[in-house]
Amino acid sequence: MKNLLSLETLSRSDMEYILTSTVAFKQGRHSGHPKPLVGQTWAMIFSKSSTRTRVSFEVGIHELGGKALFLNANDIQLGRGEPIKDTARVLGRMVHGAVIRTYAQNDVEQFAEYSRIPTINALTDDEHPCQILTDIFTFQEKRGPIQGKVVAFIGDGACNVPVSWIFAAAKLGFELRIAAPRAFQPPSALLSRAGGNIHCTEDLESAAAGADLLYTDVWVSMGKEAEAAERIRQMEKYQINGELLRVAKNNALVMHCLPAYRGKEIDETTFEAHAQTIFDQAENRLHVQKAIMGWAVS
Ligand code: CP
Ligand code: NVA
Repeated sequence: MKNLLSLETLSRSDMEYILTSTVAFKQGRHSGHPKPLVGQTWAMIFSKSSTRTRVSFEVGIHELGGKALFLNANDIQLGRGEPIKDTARVLGRMVHGAVIRTYAQNDVEQFAEYSRIPTINALTDDEHPCQILTDIFTFQEKRGPIQGKVVAFIGDGACNVPVSWIFAAAKLGFELRIAAPRAFQPPSALLSRAGGNIHCTEDLESAAAGADLLYTDVWVSMGKEAEAAERIRQMEKYQINGELLRVAKNNALVMHCLPAYRGKEIDETTFEAHAQTIFDQAENRLHVQKAIMGWAVS
């Protein structure tokens, strides 16, 4: 039994195992692949909105032979203040695995500790491990091994998505450049913890120069709505657009974890020109998360 709580704590070999086993789940979707969740019920506890993560996990659990139990955190006693460790001890006696989307990373960690069932982080304020494993799978599907390649993240460099990229970079050996206003760059303590070849800058063009992948995420993450006006003001120029793409490698990929806000972190023309990649990336959430669940119950 294993947990996926963060990419910081996921070993390189487990990362590679998940990425490799995804191929069989993707290829076998219609012809038949292993069903490691037969007879199992998995709880999905969500405190934040979701389209991709919710649907891909519900469908994925079903296609692995299990049953998904979606629990909006506000509909269970958790939303009225029941401690996460009590919720975990109850669910741990009834269900076989849990997928959690919430605010505090510590809540996912406590849930795993107290429930003693496979627990998967489906996004916290600190990390989004399922997304970045999917992004890497999608990159490798289109361009081969990510090792030695250059990934440029443009936008809010301190939120969950770039932080998971940071921990992946050190483990899989690619260069990561983060272009963000100084106030939205990742803390230096986190960068030292991660190691690897990572550069932070306020200069978009130097980050994007020769990059194999330009990547962005929303400027205003869930939970940060009160800061929206100030974030939009500070991040105004941190946009992926045709001008920035010109300095990247000729065949550079553009990815977005979605949802996308056109005219903010990416412009409409660039988004639509790269929609095939971006929606392949969204679809791959299903295949990668099947591999994650298969790994977690093994
Ligand atoms: N990218 C992502 O996690 O999307 P959702 O918020 O819709 O799940
Ligand atoms: N950083 C974004 C990711 C959304 C999938 C957020 O936390 O809202």
